[in-house]
Amino acid sequence: MSCEFAERLKNIPPYLFAEIEEKVSKKKAQGVDIIDFGIGDPDLPTPRPIVEEIKRQLDDPENHRYPSSGGERDTRVAIAEWYGRRFGVELNPDREVAVLLGSKEGLANIARAFVNPGEKVLSPDPAYPVYAQGAALLCDAEPVKVPLYDHDGFLPDLESCPADAKMIYLNYPNNPTGAVAPSPFLRNALRWCNDTNTILCYDNAYSEMTFDDYVAPSILEFGRQAIEFGSLSKTFNMTGYRLGYAVGDATLIAGLKKVKSQIDSGAPKFIQKAAAVALGEYTGRERPAMVQDSVDVYQQRRDVMVRGLRELGFHVHLPKGTFYLFFGVDGGSMDFAARMLDAGVVVTPGIGFGRNGEGFVRMALTQPAARIEEALERMRKVL
Ligand SMILES: Cc1ncc(COP(=O)(O)O)c(C=O)c1O
Repeated sequence: MSCEFAERLKNIPPYLFAEIEEKVSKKKAQGVDIIDFGIGDPDLPTPRPIVEEIKRQLDDPENHRYPSSGGERDTRVAIAEWYGRRFGVELNPDREVAVLLGSKEGLANIARAFVNPGEKVLSPDPAYPVYAQGAALLCDAEPVKVPLYDHDGFLPDLESCPADAKMIYLNYPNNPTGAVAPSPFLRNALRWCNDTNTILCYDNAYSEMTFDDYVAPSILEFGRQAIEFGSLSKTFNMTGYRLGYAVGDATLIAGLKKVKSQIDSGAPKFIQKAAAVALGEYTGRERPAMVQDSVDVYQQRRDVMVRGLRELGFHVHLPKGTFYLFFGVDGGSMDFAARMLDAGVVVTPGIGFGRNGEGFVRMALTQPAARIEEALERMRKVL
């Protein structure tokens, strides 16, 4: 068919991982044993009680019908109550909570609700690509990259950001760097957004995936003029179910729900109901066993991988959150990833997360410890 992509789609930069993905599938097709640390998709299964709950809910014909696009009320109540127990934040389930088809959808759609063509959207660099592309570029807005540097703990210098932006995205615990944000930084970020009238979109997708007694806060603990996005994807190993939530300022939630009401019909009821049961496992601030068990596995893998990479001579932080290791490599990050792939190990080149990611690679802890040891051995041979 002869038709051109719309200008806004043409503005989306080429997908830098495509080349590596193609090589990976070719090698897999040839039967080569590949150890894949590329995608941040948990290899651990969804906890059994959640799967059982979904099966139970599927038997109820009421759950075969259209859900409400902003979320079933019971699920919004469950999210609000979870925020109370987990973060000490009181939420009105009708005005301050929306259920999402995964948090990615909400992170993109919030810009459609509030950002006009040509307005600035601040996006960290490196970062999860949805902020600059799915949100800013697909709204004909201007993404402005805010650099994150290792020597600053991958925290942005907000005072040097343009004060006339419409929106800013912040994400801690952070993908791809694994950094976490201290409370004074978050308090100051809220103040800066308030002073400059910038909408703060806080991506807390990894709030429950934290290690060594570190407990990630909600941005709403520091003030209410923000919207926070979260997800069951990583907390309960539920990436394939597509269930997330947005909470916070009532006007921001109302705008997001209005966009959603025009383009989606909500997450399946049986998933929403099981999500409510999953969040109900939390009786307080502490993680329930079904979440803690996964975190323990990731923490053990993190320790094995960090120790091994340090023995290979890399300067690697021991991250307090997320299941990502982000570390500097010699030469270009694409070249390094290609060399590792020849050894049967998939790593993600940092340039894929923005220009500032160049010189780094990311490895996701989505392989069992024995495979991590095997990958380290393969890397040792080619380095
Ligand atoms: C920082 C960050 N935010 C949001 C998401 C989206 O998660 P989901 O759409 O599965 O809720 C991801 C997924 O990897 C992520 O890394």
